[in-house]
Amino acid sequence: MAKITYNTHDNKTHTIEVQNGLTVMEGAVQNDIPGIDADCGGGMACATCHVYVDDAWMAACPPISDVENVMLEVVIAPKKSGSRLSCQLMASKALDGIVLHVPD
Ligand code: FES
Repeated sequence: MAKITYNTHDNKTHTIEVQNGLTVMEGAVQNDIPGIDADCGGGMACATCHVYVDDAWMAACPPISDVENVMLEVVIAPKKSGSRLSCQLMASKALDGIVLHVPD
């Protein structure tokens, strides 16, 4: 299990345990975290799972693939550093404690 904290646009903090092997997006959807719609179900085709990874956790995240990079170009309000698709982040020991900010 990985503890994931989602700071949502309504200034609420949601900290949940996500089973290792599920994506951070799946953990959000299963727990009704607002702002992560995940319309394509993790197929990297919608970018409605966009999050900002907290600066302190950037180094722990896996590299961004070319396809994810292309999808991040179409999100609203991307950040040069920190924007990720939460469907590409896998809950794991490495991400246990990660803090994410969910855009409006
Ligand atoms: Fe669609 Fe992540 S769920 S791109």
